[in-house]
This record gives sequence, C-alpha cells and structure tokens, in this order.
Amino acid sequence: MGTQGDSQRGEERPPTSSGKAVATGKPIVVERLTHEDVNDICALYKRVWDGYRSELPAELVKAWQPTPLEFTSWMEGVTYFAARRDGKMIGAIGCEIAEGSCRLVHLAVDPEARRQGVATALVAAAGEWARRSAAGSVWADALARFTAAAAVFLRLGFVECGAFHRHYWNEDVRLFEKLL
Ligand SMILES: CC(C)(COP(=O)(O)OP(=O)(O)OC[C@H]1O[C@@H](n2cnc3c(N)ncnc32)[C@H](O)[C@@H]1OP(=O)(O)O)[C@@H](O)C(=O)NCCC(=O)NCCS
Repeated sequence: MGTQGDSQRGEERPPTSSGKAVATGKPIVVERLTHEDVNDICALYKRVWDGYRSELPAELVKAWQPTPLEFTSWMEGVTYFAARRDGKMIGAIGCEIAEGSCRLVHLAVDPEARRQGVATALVAAAGEWARRSAAGSVWADALARFTAAAAVFLRLGFVECGAFHRHYWNEDVRLFEKLL
C-alpha cells in the first residue's frame, strides 16, 4: 500500500504479469473500511462462512458472521481494510495493534474472487498499516484445516511459529508471524 496517500483511501492493484487482474478487466482496490461499509462487510462474511456450514462448528460460523451492530463493536481497536472490484466488496482483513505487534484478524475473500491476489493485496495493506504504526511484527492465526490461508501466509514471507490446540470451538489453529 506504499502508494496510498495519508487519507488511507486506497490502492489499486494493477494488472499483474500472471494476467489474473487482466482476466477480470478490473483492478482490485483496497481501502480502509469506514462505518458506511458495515453492511457490505457483514454481507461478505455471511457469504464466505455460509459455505463452511457443513464442516465447521455451528458456533464458529455464527461467531464469524457478525450482525452490523456486532461488527461495529469489532471495529473498536481494530482497523479494517476492504478490497473491492468494480465497487463490490470481495475481501476484508482486520489489523489489531497491541503492545507493538499487529495481529491480522478476520481475513476472508469472496469465494468467487479467490486466487486473484485479493488476500495478497489485503495482507500487503495490513503490513503497511503495521509499519506505519511502528509495529515490530505482524502475526496471524488460521484454523489448521484452512490450507489456503496457510499457503497465503507462507507465500507472503510469514513463518509458521506455533499452534493452539482445540482453540476455537475445538478447532486446532496454526500461528504465523512476519518480522517487519
Ligand atoms: C485464504 C483466502 C483468504 C485466500 O484468498 P485469495 O484471495 O484467494 O488468495 P491469493 O489469491 O492472494 O493467493 C496468494 C497465494 O496464496 C496461495 N494460495 C491461495 N489459495 C490457495 C489454495 N486454495 N491452495 C493452494 N495455494 C493457495 C497461492 O500461492 C497463491 O498464489 P497463486 O494464486 O499465484 O498460486 C481465501 O481462500 C479465503 O477467504 N478462505 C476462507 C477463509 C479463510 O481461510 N480465511 C483466513 C483465515 S486466517
């Protein structure tokens, strides 16, 4: 997100040499989330986690599909970025900076927009935010079963640094960190 202005109003991800952005014809735009985007991000999380109803604990799916009121409270202390293409929200991530480190939370990409660099753009935006906030590292957890999330973090230079067992409603979790 190095090209963003101080307003944090966003960055366009230009067409890549892999041709993914070219294939859709529209750039991915990452912007800091505002209160006006709350309904859109709740709809995104509903789309994403509805797809996991048959395999994840029901409590987890419910917890990760906030109502607009619940999401508004998530925003306290967490800076969210959203990715849009052609105006439609297709991905989101949260950055929770605490005690000099930045935790990435609630990363999710619309099922129809995967493998097009959306998570990559969001994690880059989060990393830039962490740097600006003088964080020394960025870290994230991901359900052990989420091999795509692990692949994203490892691809982006994170190192797997541990695990929590039976952590989210009995789901094992892998931990990833990247020093800044
Ligand atoms: C994980 C997730 C966020 C990835 O989003 P994405 O926009 O598709 O990821 P990207 O396109 O930026 O992928 C970057 C790289 O990560 C790796 N990767 C991503 N998804 C992968 C998959 N399903 N299998 C293997 N590698 C994968 C690839 O190396 C990819 O680069 P490539 O497409 O050029 O090969 C998305 O699949 C998702 O929302 N999953 C469900 C929710 C989730 O797991 N959230 C994360 C919790 S921490």
